[in-house]
Amino acid sequence: MTDLQVYYEIEGGRPLKGEIAISGAKNAATKLIIASLLSNDICVISNVPRIRDVEQTLNICEALGCSYRWTDASTVEIDSTGLSEYRIPLRYSGAMRSSVLFVAPMLKRLGKADLQTIGGCNLGLRPIDFHIAGLKRLNASVTEEDHTFHFTAERLIGSIVELDYPSVGATEQLIIAAVGAEGRTVIRNAAIEPEIQNLVGFLQSMGAIIYQDEYRTWIIDGVENFHGCSYWVINDRIEAASFACLAVATRGDIFVRGAEQEHMITFLNMFRKAGGVFEVDRSGIRFNYEDELKPVILETDVHPGFMTDWQPPFVTMLTQAQGISIVHETVYENRFGYVQALLKMDAKIQLHKSCLGRKKCRFRDQHFDHSAIVQGITALKACDIEIPDLRAGFAYLMASFIAEGTSRISGIEYVKRGYSFIQEKLAGVGGSILEISQTPDTVNA
Ligand code: EPU
Repeated sequence: MTDLQVYYEIEGGRPLKGEIAISGAKNAATKLIIASLLSNDICVISNVPRIRDVEQTLNICEALGCSYRWTDASTVEIDSTGLSEYRIPLRYSGAMRSSVLFVAPMLKRLGKADLQTIGGCNLGLRPIDFHIAGLKRLNASVTEEDHTFHFTAERLIGSIVELDYPSVGATEQLIIAAVGAEGRTVIRNAAIEPEIQNLVGFLQSMGAIIYQDEYRTWIIDGVENFHGCSYWVINDRIEAASFACLAVATRGDIFVRGAEQEHMITFLNMFRKAGGVFEVDRSGIRFNYEDELKPVILETDVHPGFMTDWQPPFVTMLTQAQGISIVHETVYENRFGYVQALLKMDAKIQLHKSCLGRKKCRFRDQHFDHSAIVQGITALKACDIEIPDLRAGFAYLMASFIAEGTSRISGIEYVKRGYSFIQEKLAGVGGSILEISQTPDTVNA
């Protein structure tokens, strides 16, 4: 580990037991903050997770002329009366995918927005063509020059938009744009994830008129003005599922306080099929196991399907199931990057370019390793590994807790982007993570 500077050290091999309280959802919190810019007023958002992506989103708000303050550990007040800057600064947008969503409220308030190359986890190409095509349908003009997109709209006008794929981000972009557009917008083949429902609830509280219609359709009647409001972020169902997989994979028992069954129905079905046991009560869900874990056949999909973000921890759990599991990833073409490190830890996973499943998949015959065959049970061995993306980061923490011995994990910035107080939370179930910083001199010595 020569260039290692900051890393986690994890001693694995024991069951994790106890209680973890989850935080608000990253993928809802950042969107609510961005949508608050629609109003020339103050919005108060509670249950906001203290993670890097939220910090970056707030930094962008500030760079655009807004201000914010934390009124308690998880409540933030955003005052967007000062919104005046139309260029989304690259130093933040380059690191975070959801920065593209600033375009919609900026078009409403300023009539223009400039966006340089956007970031996010490296899970595939992740283009923004659906966002651009949809905004054009709503009367925006979009030009590109020197890696910068220039968006302009004297006024947004409602229209009918049919998305090629139910993209979460594009749906959010178009809903935020449409609520302030003139007339009615219909968005078909749209995403309907619980995080989007949370955004819709927030926008409605600000004055928007939004209907959810038959299969995957949002109908929005544009309004002129938005007022401030107080609202809350839903709990993080990705975090909840991650801790569920961790409990079972380490042969432990974890009560996940705040886990919400209604947002995890598909996960819970698959978890049960894999031999996991759960008990639901109003304050959370307890996860453990009875006998051996069992192999499953699993395909990721948009909601209400099995979330792609549940896939890396679930696959890591499947390395502890007796038999052969088959996993078909249909949302991202490159979401098995994390498997390399699991192989280093002795997991038996084969990647395949063909679709090992029945779902319609955009990656058929396209030479992406988007299916996996996982053979268990494997006694994982401790290793030095580097995290390639956010959800992979959690999978590596999990693998290190499963493996006997001490693992060292670098690239921990990815974990900090999406999991708040991860060390404290895991310490509560007996999982110690030491964060170690070394100067290059010490490292090279
Ligand atoms: N896509 C396009 N063109 C577009 C937009 C999307 O081809 O204009 C493709 C993407 O390349 C991808 C698929 O459509 O293959 C789905 O992308 P989507 O737009 O639904 O994803 P996103 O909005 O960029 C959000 C979450 C992701 C989560 C996905 C799917 C945020 C900030 N990110 O991404 O979360 O995996 O929805 O549920 O909300 C994470 O939290 O680790 C994470 C990656």
